[in-house]
Amino acid sequence: MADILILFYSRHGHTAALADEIRHGVIAVTGCTARMRTVAPLAHRPDTVPISGPPYVDKNDLRECAGLALGSPTRFGNMAAPLKAFLDETSDLWLSGTLIGKPAAVFTATSSMHGGQESTLLSMMLPLFHHGMLVLGVPYSEAALLDTKSGGTPYGASHVSGADNALALSEHEKRVARALGKRLAETALRLA
Ligand SMILES: Cc1cc2nc3c(=O)[nH]c(=O)nc-3n(C[C@H](O)[C@H](O)[C@H](O)COP(=O)(O)O)c2cc1C
Repeated sequence: MADILILFYSRHGHTAALADEIRHGVIAVTGCTARMRTVAPLAHRPDTVPISGPPYVDKNDLRECAGLALGSPTRFGNMAAPLKAFLDETSDLWLSGTLIGKPAAVFTATSSMHGGQESTLLSMMLPLFHHGMLVLGVPYSEAALLDTKSGGTPYGASHVSGADNALALSEHEKRVARALGKRLAETALRLA
């Protein structure tokens, strides 16, 4: 079995909703399982058990995974600090080359349509390149990329949650997220 780590931070649940669609895409691939993990808010560190949702990530999750989907809400055009703080603690994995050659993908949520999805997705890829991961996007063979009126990009899955954070994932956003999860899982299996 190829275990895909879906690691995300989500304050209001929108990035978490994308993570769940990616999970559906992953488990649609025979031979792949999905492991959901999150990170603690900075103010709450070092909690060990979240009140709800997936467990906090451990560096062993990165060691053990066959692939990684990394998700964060957009914060001023960039990933959220709690996720960055976790990545900044992975230099031992960088030194040992643990993630070299593993496939990876990224996803985000914003409140506004042009609030920085692409800048967040592209900048989330940077530490993954430093780790030697094989970064995947979504090809335009997924028609939802052309049809979407909100999120869903070739750089990764995304969602526009609206000014009051009230919008649920659109069908196009769901399709792009599932396609990304499926592609990540299939790639991990091929590489395994
Ligand atoms: C500090 C902060 C900065 C934010 N920066 C942006 C931004 O640059 N662009 C944007 O569209 N939304 C921005 N947002 C809104 C969140 O990205 C948006 O509400 C997102 O859907 C939240 O995802 P979540 O439900 O997974 O927490 C910001 C929110 C906070 C709290």
